[in-house]
Amino acid sequence: MKVTVLGGAGGIGQPLSLLLKNALPAGSALALYDVNPVVVGVGVDLGHIPTPVSVSGYAEGDLDASLSGADVVVIPAGVPRKPGMTRDDLFNINAGIVATLVEACARTCPDACLAVITNPVNSTVPIAAEILKKAGVYDPHRLFGVTTLDVIRSQTFVAERKGWDPAETRVTVVGGHSGNTILPLLSQVAGADFSQDELEGLTHRIQNAGTEVVEAKAGGGSATLSMGEAAARFTLALIDGLTGGSPVQCAYVAVDDQPTAFFALPVRLGRSGVAERLPYGPLSPYEQKLLDEMIPTLEANIEKGVAFARQR
Ligand SMILES: NC(=O)c1ccc[n+]([C@@H]2O[C@H](COP(=O)([O-])OP(=O)(O)OC[C@H]3O[C@@H](n4cnc5c(N)ncnc54)[C@H](O)[C@@H]3O)[C@@H](O)[C@H]2O)c1
Repeated sequence: MKVTVLGGAGGIGQPLSLLLKNALPAGSALALYDVNPVVVGVGVDLGHIPTPVSVSGYAEGDLDASLSGADVVVIPAGVPRKPGMTRDDLFNINAGIVATLVEACARTCPDACLAVITNPVNSTVPIAAEILKKAGVYDPHRLFGVTTLDVIRSQTFVAERKGWDPAETRVTVVGGHSGNTILPLLSQVAGADFSQDELEGLTHRIQNAGTEVVEAKAGGGSATLSMGEAAARFTLALIDGLTGGSPVQCAYVAVDDQPTAFFALPVRLGRSGVAERLPYGPLSPYEQKLLDEMIPTLEANIEKGVAFARQR
């Protein structure tokens, strides 16, 4: 397997690459690309870790070389939030970055699975889909918005609240990846009996957890280490699927049986990316209300991405 990380020198790209260097199957190749030339040194640095995974760093001008033969491309390239910003405020800069990088994927590794981390994910994934369609290589089974961070945060916060082992705590998170579009299905958490106050408090914390980090870092960026971990888990699940496993992960994917064209839900992964979109089970009346309320936002985020890509 070859995994390419676009934005490999960044706050997410570096810990993600470290985790992948240590966990990809033996014989895999890891390629890091970034417009920051330090990426070449990051590749050399990682290369000194004694695991059977080769690493190369590629600077500007070598984008296509970094992508050549890639099975999975992970995209954390772009700018992160500063305090007071929403994810949507990043659109003007990050939309163009994602579009340019996905155009390169379309010409160089059209069969790769693409995992988009760059915010606003609700819009950057539809942008990627439109770019791939224009190039005639769109396969909705191979395009993902990474929402794993919402899932691992939910695990952590629910376990903290209940005094459980976070590693054993399972929470499904559906919808999108920003503010009120993040919907943790806490009514389905086995063994938890939350009061309405607890439900509202936990839901609010999960929806605003990214902002909690942005404010704590006070201008120094957004979540990078927890996101590196989340992205590594998702990438390794993709690789597991591509090599014959059938793991289940929540991700923001193209759908045809939901109110919006893209929606985060549990998917079974396989040899061609999404093998099956899974039902996410019954919602409580409170969750159904939150789902109904998020739809206009999610729809507008998707339309904004589609419109941007179509006028390129
Ligand atoms: N999906 C999620 O859950 C999630 C969570 C946290 C952050 N994010 C998003 O991930 C993105 C990256 O965050 P970060 O903290 O790593 O930022 P960062 O600024 O630390 O790193 C971004 C990297 O992208 C590189 N870059 C910029 N333009 C590029 C281009 N055209 N080609 C290649 N590389 C390019 C930069 O040089 C930098 O190294 C942000 O958009 C952030 O909002 C998403």
